[in-house]
Amino acid sequence: MVKASAPGKCILFGEHAVVYGQPAVACSINQRMIVELEEETQFDSWRLDGAILNLSKHPHIRFLKDKLWSEGEHPPLKIRIRGTVPPASGLGSSAALSVALVAALQQLRQEELNPEMAGLLSHQAEAFAQGGRASPIDTTTSALGGFIVLSDTIEDSLDHIGERRLQHQDEVTTWQLHSFEARIPEDTYLVIGNTGIRGSTSKQVSKVAALLAKEPERKVEIEAIGSIARKGIEALRTGNMELVGKAMTENHIVLRSLGVSSPELENLIKAAARSSLGVKLTGSGGGGCMIALTKNPEITIGAIEMEGGRGFITRFNTAGVRIETLSSQDNSEQ
Ligand code: MEV
Repeated sequence: MVKASAPGKCILFGEHAVVYGQPAVACSINQRMIVELEEETQFDSWRLDGAILNLSKHPHIRFLKDKLWSEGEHPPLKIRIRGTVPPASGLGSSAALSVALVAALQQLRQEELNPEMAGLLSHQAEAFAQGGRASPIDTTTSALGGFIVLSDTIEDSLDHIGERRLQHQDEVTTWQLHSFEARIPEDTYLVIGNTGIRGSTSKQVSKVAALLAKEPERKVEIEAIGSIARKGIEALRTGNMELVGKAMTENHIVLRSLGVSSPELENLIKAAARSSLGVKLTGSGGGGCMIALTKNPEITIGAIEMEGGRGFITRFNTAGVRIETLSSQDNSEQ
């Protein structure tokens, strides 16, 4: 049996504007997806959590199976998926699942753990699952961990770690990937508040595209998010948490004006703001999660839960993809 895990992510600055080339910043969170693989001896197929795997319902798994093995050459497998990243909540659960699956498959094939390769293949799997379009922010953050910046240009003040290209129909999109060290004081926490309402990334991305097509002058709001993101990155690097919080709240105000917030997100944001340095929605919006930068995590969580949300603390700088050692319980299940 082999076992690998990968973290979810949250976007601190720049969602939606990143689709138009502006910089976006994400960090890994301590909620993770775990994938266990075991050779299947009874059936000649892949099984997921005990049932025959329906590949049309799991396009990520289908993509990786076809990518790594030629037709008919894959070994029969039992796949078990667990994890604490809530699905369809803007926290990158599908990216974390793909990244952990690639790492587990690499281990099964007796290859070295290769986080860059896990990031690359899982981005291709995400793009396949989403009908061709997906930015690599979720998969890169999940594979490498820490703080990741995506931009359409090389940002001189950051560590450039690579480039990613994606062809969709006749269009090739190129992203520059960066990392940086953030100085987060011990007494500052990131609290996530989940509305429990599933958001649809493609719906929210299309909504912004329609708004910009109808009112092209609103492009200034996209550029404003880009400048806020750059200000936020600088404040994270210098450890100025007041400025980070202020930039988060400014970023949220622009996202709200673009129409991607929701009444439920606004309720949680308003409640958490009283005890926080800054608050915003995270991910594509329309539901899903909000985040709060706070020195009073218990009070912030309490305020979120009073409004019917689910609040939890996440640590900064959690590790990217890793191979997990098998516990005695795992071995006894074999
Ligand atoms: C979704 O997590 C972030 C968006 O910017 C979409 C994307 O980057 O592909 C809304």
